[in-house]
Amino acid sequence: MAQTLTILGLESSCDDTAAAVVRQTEGQAAEILSSVVHGQTDLHSAYGGVVPEIAARAHAEKLDICVRQALAEAGVTLADLDAVAVTAGPGLIGGVMSGVMCAKGIAAATGLPLIGVNHLAGHALTPRLTDQIAYPYLMLLVSGGHCQYLIAHGPEQFSRLGGTIDDAPGEAFDKTARLLGLPQPGGPSVEGEARQGDPKRFRFPRPLLDRPGCDLSFSGLKTALMRMRDQLVAEQGGLTRQDRADLCAGFQAAVVDTLAEKTRRALALYLAEDPAEPVVAVAGGVAANAAIRAALETVCAEADARFTAPPLRLCTDNAAMIAYAGLERFRSGARDGLDLTARPRWPLDQNSPAMLGSGKKGAKA
Ligand code: KG4
Ligand code: ZN
Repeated sequence: MAQTLTILGLESSCDDTAAAVVRQTEGQAAEILSSVVHGQTDLHSAYGGVVPEIAARAHAEKLDICVRQALAEAGVTLADLDAVAVTAGPGLIGGVMSGVMCAKGIAAATGLPLIGVNHLAGHALTPRLTDQIAYPYLMLLVSGGHCQYLIAHGPEQFSRLGGTIDDAPGEAFDKTARLLGLPQPGGPSVEGEARQGDPKRFRFPRPLLDRPGCDLSFSGLKTALMRMRDQLVAEQGGLTRQDRADLCAGFQAAVVDTLAEKTRRALALYLAEDPAEPVVAVAGGVAANAAIRAALETVCAEADARFTAPPLRLCTDNAAMIAYAGLERFRSGARDGLDLTARPRWPLDQNSPAMLGSGKKGAKA
């Protein structure tokens, strides 16, 4: 008989405290019974970034409230659950520990099995939660802290084809906004400005396109932008609205071109594995960018691959993806004990070498 599983998921690896309940009957679509996210943006806004100690304390204060709310909204009690899944890394260690301790407390009190989940696997498995995408599929994770191409072969089997060697694209958008005096988060502000701008007026580099492979680099774009901004200020004493829009448009065009070309290369490597139904999925906050999405859609259409992106609330940090990734681990027989540890770093593909400089910010993933 098809087994129905109901899993509680907890997420606290950066600045969102989240709890969710996901249910799935074997062979059927998973159902998100509840997904509660308490952001911490207000707590950190005065500091220009996430302060780890403040984040950890806020998670510890909010986790039980989130769990209670997630159970109530799902209309279930702890007795209806089959397991508790929790982000056990990578992320800000204080926050990850808060979640792991909370999940251990629930597991110890109820006897429920405990499942540790890699936060990045949560993002990477979201296309299965939302669209039942079959393995293997190509995944592009683009967020404020991460950028990598992965082929997902199974709930814990990922091959990384490449990734950023310095900044993540979201980080580059945020820094660009900061350099131009635009509001944070930078992605939506820069995209808004870029819509009014001329992408050809300023010539930005296309980093690493001259080298083979799927690695990316975004920190040079920020340096180029800074130089162009400083030159304009020196020549005319400041920036006009149009200058700002043109700089944003030029910067965004460089990100779009780079991601499009590297996706083309990653897609070729993936298609060489001869998947029955080729699918490219994207997740992370940067996937909200319409120009990036359109470019990826075109690349996929050229190669006859399906393109899919989860709805934005499931692209950004949430606990439904953790509950779902935990559910897949649970079905495959995985269980963790009360000795589960919180890990600040935890690469998805254990076989590929650590990325130079990646994750140095260690914040959002
Ligand atoms: O996935 P996310 O909510 O947080 C993590 O990084 O995990 O992504 C946030 C990042 C920020 O850097 C933000 O500037 C970027 O996603 N972002 C965008 C857009 N919306 C959000 N970047 C480009 N264009 C956008 N429209
Ligand atoms: Zn994340």
